[in-house]
Amino acid sequence: MSTTRREVFGRLADGTDVHRWTLERGGTLLRVLDYGGIVQTLERPDRTGHVANLSLGFPDLVSYTTASPYFGALIGRYGNRIAEGRFTLDGTTYHLPVNDGPNSLHGGEDGFDKRVWDVRPNGGHGLTLALTSPHGDQGYPGRLDVEVDYTLGEDGSLRIDYRAVTDAPTVVNLTSHIYFNLAGEGSGGVGDHRLGLAAAHYTPVDEHLIPTGEIAPVAGTPFDFRRAKPVGRDLRDGHPQLLRAQGYDHNMLLDKGVTEEPEHAATLYDPGSGRLMTVATTEPALQLYSGNFLDGTLTGGSGRAYRQTDALCLETQHCPDSPNRPSFPSTVLRPGETYRSSTVYAFAVR
Ligand code: BGC
Repeated sequence: MSTTRREVFGRLADGTDVHRWTLERGGTLLRVLDYGGIVQTLERPDRTGHVANLSLGFPDLVSYTTASPYFGALIGRYGNRIAEGRFTLDGTTYHLPVNDGPNSLHGGEDGFDKRVWDVRPNGGHGLTLALTSPHGDQGYPGRLDVEVDYTLGEDGSLRIDYRAVTDAPTVVNLTSHIYFNLAGEGSGGVGDHRLGLAAAHYTPVDEHLIPTGEIAPVAGTPFDFRRAKPVGRDLRDGHPQLLRAQGYDHNMLLDKGVTEEPEHAATLYDPGSGRLMTVATTEPALQLYSGNFLDGTLTGGSGRAYRQTDALCLETQHCPDSPNRPSFPSTVLRPGETYRSSTVYAFAVR
């Protein structure tokens, strides 16, 4: 069965109506807002058939507009940090708004997570969200025309396809900021979730969470998820990188690199509910973020407070600060080229 529904979710201060779209297929119920392209809920049954929402989020629009740490949102133009909000492209230096200590995070203060996207149903099982970001938007050069498809597969998998074109050289790094808890949002920590990552290297960060440029092996460190292990096993290890980020907030370099089609990147399994999620992507890296900055001040759809490590983000992307790191895979997009990125989140129970 497949259905697509639309309803009014709320109204922005400027009078714009925000809509919520609902898609249902293969046992997945997905709710998407046109505001921020936010995945508000992603509902799946556990091994006994009990349905829960696996994605942290709010029941109302005002929480999203005032307090959200990017719950479920589309991130652009640039996922994660650009050092000191500055980069040079073809000899011109561009300045971006700084919104995270000295750095620019997730596209700046007014990123794609705060825009109302144009949404249209696509193919009966999907939505296409479109956005035009004018030249100079948040300091970035070039007019960027972006499209993102959310598609539910027959098996209930969620596929996200990103496309963008520009009329001047620019940089792009789009991602989705879903906070996953396979036991259900509000159910507590994900320390017992078993995480596997096809990543033998990661990028250590400085005190402002900017990659130092080093490509470090995960072997012998808490960052080694090559054999799946509980997320919480090494979280209190005292490794300097974990202390710096208050947990995992690091870019894991996927062994497969950039690929034409989505290839295996991660598995996440919750032994309690039996829910299993696999992540496949075309991207060369994945930001592993263990919800370190959730501090108990936000309550989600279940009415329960979100605390540190109550979710895991697996943000498929290019590396943070790539525009300032020529040795990292390039995030430059030029006129005539099409930026493409795809990620598939597939679900099962065991
Ligand atoms: C970043 C974190 C940040 C979080 C939410 C993640 O992608 O790596 O440092 O706190 O997004 O804002």
